[in-house]
Amino acid sequence: MKVSVFIAASLDGYIARSDGGLDWLEDPPDLEEDYGYKAFIRSVDTLAMGRGAFEKVLTFPEWPYEGKRVIVLSRTLRQLPPGFKERAELRRELPAQLVEHLRCQGCTRIYVDGCLTIEAFLNAGLITALTLTRIPPSAGWAATCACCTRTPRAYFSGFVQSTYTLPA
Ligand SMILES: NC(=O)c1ccc[n+]([C@@H]2O[C@H](COP(=O)([O-])OP(=O)(O)OC[C@H]3O[C@@H](n4cnc5c(N)ncnc54)[C@H](OP(=O)(O)O)[C@@H]3O)[C@@H](O)[C@H]2O)c1
Repeated sequence: MKVSVFIAASLDGYIARSDGGLDWLEDPPDLEEDYGYKAFIRSVDTLAMGRGAFEKVLTFPEWPYEGKRVIVLSRTLRQLPPGFKERAELRRELPAQLVEHLRCQGCTRIYVDGCLTIEAFLNAGLITALTLTRIPPSAGWAATCACCTRTPRAYFSGFVQSTYTLPA
C-alpha cells in the first residue's frame, strides 16, 4: 500500500494564503508544464482529503477527481453537498483505521490531501511518499538548473521539486 502526499508550498513554507486562497498556485508561469501531477493522479486509486481541502475543491470550476474514489474526512459535516454523494464518501476514522479499511477494500495507492490531514497521517507514520513542489514568490525567479533528471528537480519557471520515499 502506498500512501502519498503531492503538495505545493511557497518557499517560506505556506500551502495556502490565510484565507485559504491558492491563487499563487493556480496561475503558474509555464502553462505547458504540469509538474508531474497528471502522472501522479493517474497512479492513485483513492483520495483521502480533509474537509478544508474538500471545501477548497468545491470552489473549482469542475470536479477534478472523476473516476477516483474520494474520501472526505470530517467530524462536523453531516452530509456532502447535493450532487457530491456519487462523487465522494464522508468518513471520520483515525488515519490508521482508514488506511486499514481501504486496504481491506483493495485500494493500493492513496493520495492524502489537506494540511491537517497530511499532518495527522505523517504523525501516524503512514505516509510512504511525499512530493513537495516549492514555489518561488514570483515568476521572475529562475532556477539555476533546469535540466536535472534526478531530484531535486528544478524547472525553468523556478519551481523546485523533491521526492522523498521510504524504502520498500
Ligand atoms: N498548496 C497545496 O498544494 C494545497 C493542497 C491541498 C490543500 N491546500 C490548502 O489547504 C487548506 C486546507 O487545509 P486545512 O488546514 O483545512 O486541513 P484539511 O486537512 O484539509 O481539513 C482539516 C479538517 O479535516 C477533517 N479531518 C481531518 N482528519 C480527520 C479524521 N481523521 N477524521 C475526521 N475528520 C478529519 C476535520 O474536519 P472537521 O473540522 O469537519 O471535523 C479537520 O478540521 C486549504 O486552504 C487548501 O487550499 C493546499
